[in-house]
Amino acid sequence: MYLFRSDLKEKSEVNINVPHKKVMMCLNESTLDPFAVIKDKILEKMDKVHLNRYFNPVTDRLYKELADYAEVKRENLAMGNGVDEMLYYIFTAVRENKNDFALTFSPSYFDYKSYCDAVGLKIQQMDLKDDFSNDFDKFIQVGSDANCKLLILCNPNNPTGHIMPSEQIQRVLEKSDKLVLIDETYFEFSKITYKDWINKYPNLIITRSFSKAFSAAGLRFGYVISAEDNIKQLKKVITAFNLSLMTQTIALTILENKEIFLNHTQKVVEMRDYLWEELNKIPKMKATNTYTNFLILTIGNRTKDLFKYLEENEIALRDVSAHPIMKNQIRVTISAPEENELFLEKVKEFMEKEEI
Ligand SMILES: Cc1ncc(COP(=O)(O)O)c(C=O)c1O
Repeated sequence: MYLFRSDLKEKSEVNINVPHKKVMMCLNESTLDPFAVIKDKILEKMDKVHLNRYFNPVTDRLYKELADYAEVKRENLAMGNGVDEMLYYIFTAVRENKNDFALTFSPSYFDYKSYCDAVGLKIQQMDLKDDFSNDFDKFIQVGSDANCKLLILCNPNNPTGHIMPSEQIQRVLEKSDKLVLIDETYFEFSKITYKDWINKYPNLIITRSFSKAFSAAGLRFGYVISAEDNIKQLKKVITAFNLSLMTQTIALTILENKEIFLNHTQKVVEMRDYLWEELNKIPKMKATNTYTNFLILTIGNRTKDLFKYLEENEIALRDVSAHPIMKNQIRVTISAPEENELFLEKVKEFMEKEEI
């Protein structure tokens, strides 16, 4: 006897499979711990938050601060436990029938599929071209299928790190009468946002995260920016009190001290560019720069051996090779300066060894 939704029977559990090594360059996390820099301010604020209550003024203050930061109105925002939870809500809100699907490019953020599976929304993943460019004509055409309920554009895209041309994004928004989700999880690295279009395009919905530029992956805080009516629809599926008062308090404190985190983000961008240059000086190595906090690199058919060598040396990277166009690529998250140097040293060591 199977007691759950029949389509769940064949699905796998949501599981993040990464090696745990001393140097974690695999999950696009930050190495700056908010507790290390604003712990006192967080604790001071926590003192005024009473966990025996559902409501606290911190919610209003967070909405206000977030609206200021995102340069939108409070009515254009919905908040939750990371972009992941917001995706779950968006997918839940658009899924109508069992043949409904979301459309995305591939490779893209791995968990679009996990949460589509979770809510019983099918997903069609359209391959990127070998040079990571997108076939927008085909995307718009497949997206016009009556069963397509959501078009997802990850911009910048994870794991390729590329951005899509804005005139093509605009074309998708104009040609499609479906909801178009632009995932701006890496916005602070790319500095490219479509938030100014939310009132021009009522089918536009944007997700943003505190996990990357705000150094708070473990906090689990993310938000949606969209036209007021879309936010109202979304709030019909968001659980009451979905965001703990502790999360809200820490998110607010981070925002009130945002320069610390945004300065750090700028340093990460500088380190990324430095690492990209240094890696490209190594013979036979090709590093691709991105609009994110990671780089993509390849040494052709020896890439997998390099991945293994780094793992043996306690450096964990993310294996993104499942998709054919990423077959010989590895993704490396920019980390602390000494970790980046260690990574560089180990890559050079490997390349010299192989040269002999
Ligand atoms: C493109 C993209 N979207 C969403 C997420 C999830 O973000 P969050 O930690 O806010 O759930 C990630 C995390 O790596 C990501 O790369």
